[in-house]
Amino acid sequence: MNLSSEKRILVTGGAGFIGSNFLSLMVPRFPHWHFLNVDNLTYAGNLHSLAGIDTLHNYSFSQVDITDADAIQQVFTDYQPDWVIHFAAESHVDRSIVGPKEFIVTNILGTFNLLESCRAIWKDSDGHLFHHVSTDEVYGSLGAEGYFTELTAYDPSSPYSASKAGSDHLVRAYYRTYDLPVKITNCSNNYGPRQFPEKLIPLMILNCLERKPLPVYGDGGNVRDWLHVDDHCEAILTVAQSGRAGETYNVGGNSERTNLIVVRTICQIVAEELGVPTAEIEGLINFVTDRPGHDRRYAIDASKLSNELGWTPKWTFEDGMRNTVRWYLKNMDWVDQVRTGAYRQWLTQNYEDRESS
Ligand code: NAD
Ligand code: DAU
Repeated sequence: MNLSSEKRILVTGGAGFIGSNFLSLMVPRFPHWHFLNVDNLTYAGNLHSLAGIDTLHNYSFSQVDITDADAIQQVFTDYQPDWVIHFAAESHVDRSIVGPKEFIVTNILGTFNLLESCRAIWKDSDGHLFHHVSTDEVYGSLGAEGYFTELTAYDPSSPYSASKAGSDHLVRAYYRTYDLPVKITNCSNNYGPRQFPEKLIPLMILNCLERKPLPVYGDGGNVRDWLHVDDHCEAILTVAQSGRAGETYNVGGNSERTNLIVVRTICQIVAEELGVPTAEIEGLINFVTDRPGHDRRYAIDASKLSNELGWTPKWTFEDGMRNTVRWYLKNMDWVDQVRTGAYRQWLTQNYEDRESS
């Protein structure tokens, strides 16, 4: 790998869960690459998640909304990125059920704006890349058997997954129609540090710590294929560097678990870490009304990515989950900022005031 080659990388959604983990890994690793984080800082965007890299010479941040076509075009004109790694999205299924419109606007129109900006400034595909970070939810729901492959037909169930499917189709259309150098990764459920506590795993960890009920949807038998966020970030880098243009690569952890098993595992780890009886924590489990359109099972066949590009996940589910519980226990200041909303007040004081002065 040539570490000294210059590259300008525009990362969208870098203040979110996966984007901030990606930048935290890659900014120090590639000092000769420059990373521009473009994020409009929705409730899910948190600049505290970038502590440690935000002062490095090869990192900068710009608060821009990907749904604002003119502002995005200006960023592309000024920055002239070689690569775009596109994470920015509305990402939470339950929110998409309550209010789908933002998902359509951000995930479809926002992606369209980025594709158009790439098309406007890239005169050829040489050295350029639009990497679209997508989800296994576009494939819909599996029964007890089988796996999603890159050839599985799209069959999304929620407004979130339908909006991601729409954006995937647009990205592929820009490859076929305009020769735009695109790659797509469709990944299973991520977990790890800095995940917003609306998602199953951080919600359960924090509710265990506060001895609040642990709401398990339906019978708890829905299955997800869990992947540590660092493994996902390494997969994205692998595909960006070595994958074939126009191709899709599925990314998965080979770690299928029912939600009930995931929640029980968290209860056990939290109890061990706190030195309290597991039964005290497990007693908080509370079965609640199911999510409408709740996909029963996701499972990824990632053999294309492992056979073609040599990527495999490094974390086991049990080690990754213990590491994640410990991260939340050690970073209660981050948790408190998020839980109280203080991370947004800090943003107002440090960015919006500065911009208006
Ligand atoms: P997240 O919700 O934690 O972060 C999303 C980020 O995008 C936030 O920083 C937010 O401020 C930013 N954003 C939202 N709307 C924006 C807009 N209009 N303009 C600019 N920035 C905007 O999401 P995540 O979990 O980190 O997911 C990142 C990407 O990975 C998404 O595209 C998601 O679909 C995909 N994905 C997530 C998972 C998962 O398990 N979390 C799995 C597979 C794929
Ligand atoms: O599969 C990839 C997808 O994983 C990503 O594309 C999404 O952005 C990400 O949010 C995630 O979607 P899920 O809906 O699978 O994740 P969530 O953490 O919301 O839920 C995981 C499972 O846990 C799901 O079966 C619903 C269930 N659940 C969730 C919550 C929040 C509960 O039982 N109780 C809860 O309180």
